[in-house]
Amino acid sequence: MTPLLQRLGIPLPIVQGPMTGSDTPPLAAAVSQAGGLGMLGCGMRSPEAMAQAAAAVRAATDRPFGMNLFVLDTPAPDAATVQAAMARLAPLYAEFGLTPEAPARWCEDFAAQLEALIAARPAVASFTFGILDGAQVERLHGAGCMVIGTATTLAEALAWQEVGADAVCASGMEAGGHRGTFLGDFDASLVGTMALIPQCVDALRIPVIAAGGIMDGRGIAAAQALGAQAVQMGTAFLACPESGITPAQRAAMARAQGTDTRITRAYSGRPARGIVNTMMERLAPDEAAIPPYPIQNALTGALRRAAGAQGRADYLSLWAGQGVGAARVMPAGELVALLAQEWRAATACAQE
Ligand SMILES: Cc1cc2nc3c(=O)[nH]c(=O)nc-3n(C[C@H](O)[C@H](O)[C@H](O)COP(=O)(O)O)c2cc1C
Repeated sequence: MTPLLQRLGIPLPIVQGPMTGSDTPPLAAAVSQAGGLGMLGCGMRSPEAMAQAAAAVRAATDRPFGMNLFVLDTPAPDAATVQAAMARLAPLYAEFGLTPEAPARWCEDFAAQLEALIAARPAVASFTFGILDGAQVERLHGAGCMVIGTATTLAEALAWQEVGADAVCASGMEAGGHRGTFLGDFDASLVGTMALIPQCVDALRIPVIAAGGIMDGRGIAAAQALGAQAVQMGTAFLACPESGITPAQRAAMARAQGTDTRITRAYSGRPARGIVNTMMERLAPDEAAIPPYPIQNALTGALRRAAGAQGRADYLSLWAGQGVGAARVMPAGELVALLAQEWRAATACAQE
């Protein structure tokens, strides 16, 4: 038991990474019930949907779970930027007989989501894309939530410690999904897990959770050898039947290997790692001109939904990490048990 696990009240050092749009209450509940920490990625959930998802997890398990938000300002893009982005997407929409439209709003209101999270009082409140201030962290502590900040560099990890976070999720560039980078340049912040974890462990007073490329018990043991007190795994849990991904995305994951993922701004305007497909390749030449998250994300939403409805993986955001080829398809509770068994075997092996 590491101090982090004692504080969380969970027996295993395994956090199911929040996965906005792809995680589900049954997935989070199954992981928590099996002794890990299930998480709900609430970046695109409305406050009402957040309350419903938290209630659904609680109906299925009395174990601790976490909720995660994107720290975002509401954008106010100028009309020319939006028009140019829609013109760029028009030929892609045409594949589905659609035309791009500006949405009624660009994203959920972060302040309202934070209130919903505080009202839901999960054991863990985790954040990415930005950082809270000390007063917000205090409010979460008052609600009984442990606060975890996502960092892609040591500077970001230190910034989270400074505002009072209880732990940092250090996310290496191998990780699937969006980069959480919020200080400095995205490209300069592409630090690998093996390099990032010891840097953070050596410099921080608070526990470090390792994320990025961890797919089995060996990976958990390796992260612990580097000083991490737990791991956060996304891609591995995405393959579980309880995740919310479409059959087309499941099939693409089953085919993908470590060389098939790339970091792209094409889908959302924020660098994110996913399986290379047609949409990514078609927008690659224009990547630098694509407007930032959440503008591009909102503008591509209808296109991605149409692709999902037609079972086409070529225009879906196929977020996955470099470990995707090692994903195993099995119920989440069984995966947690297998990971625990492998982790114990790898730890015993290292001690011999
Ligand atoms: C489909 C998908 C969606 C994700 N959404 C979020 C999210 O909403 N919030 C977040 O903090 N991290 C998100 N992540 C990152 C995961 O929580 C986790 O840190 C990451 O997947 C770890 O790397 P791995 O994919 O190599 O296991 C997402 C990852 C994936 C694959």
